[in-house]
Amino acid sequence: MTSPMSPQNTWKQLAGNAAAELIQEGMVVGLGTGSTAAYLVQAMAQRIQQGLQIKGAVASSLATYDLANSLHIPMTDLDEHPELDIYIDGADEIDPQFRLIKGAGGALLREKILASAARRFVVIADSSKKVTQLGHIYPLPVEVVPLAKTPITLQLTRLGAEVKIRQHNNIPFITDNHNYILDCTFPQGISDPAQLDAQIHSIVGVVETGLFINMVSQVIIGGPEGVQIFS
Ligand code: 5RP
Repeated sequence: MTSPMSPQNTWKQLAGNAAAELIQEGMVVGLGTGSTAAYLVQAMAQRIQQGLQIKGAVASSLATYDLANSLHIPMTDLDEHPELDIYIDGADEIDPQFRLIKGAGGALLREKILASAARRFVVIADSSKKVTQLGHIYPLPVEVVPLAKTPITLQLTRLGAEVKIRQHNNIPFITDNHNYILDCTFPQGISDPAQLDAQIHSIVGVVETGLFINMVSQVIIGGPEGVQIFS
């Protein structure tokens, strides 16, 4: 007997299923990372099994690649298809201006590369991800070159962050790109995401931040009242 899904997972699945319906014949599709994106991948695999033909899918992480490949989704990459018709991914926080914090799953760099290569970036999430201001629930992940972690930590602290190096099994978590992640908590929240993003990018050794600004075309939220689409 399978155990019943939590309401949050049911809402994630609703959003993932709705986003899979946006995929059309002949598209090149970017696939996000995380539990909500996994529902999308499963729903898309089902549509392909039923006859939908896409040019190919590009994964934002090794984990997503493995899942999609195991479900017989035809995989491609940005060298073969430098432009994506659509990129669909989850988020950790979504503010009213569709600015995001992403990267709790550690895939923020590839996710941002795919989002920026896409004609359309669709965010899928359960309703708990909607916030009025970024930075109150999730820390902001910053991907860094490992040897620069200590000077970067110092400079992030000067920007007001409480910084923790992300750990996995008591050793630093290594991203798919062989970097570290510094998780930055801003106790007052993030009042100006664009300014903070620019300040963090100016620190040498920073590879990317989990702030996604001016990138989102559409947000699909699953919640107790069903699916809501915002654009
Ligand atoms: C991974 C991400 C994910 O999209 C984000 O963490 C949301 O995950 P989930 O769908 O499991 O709640 O940014 O780097």
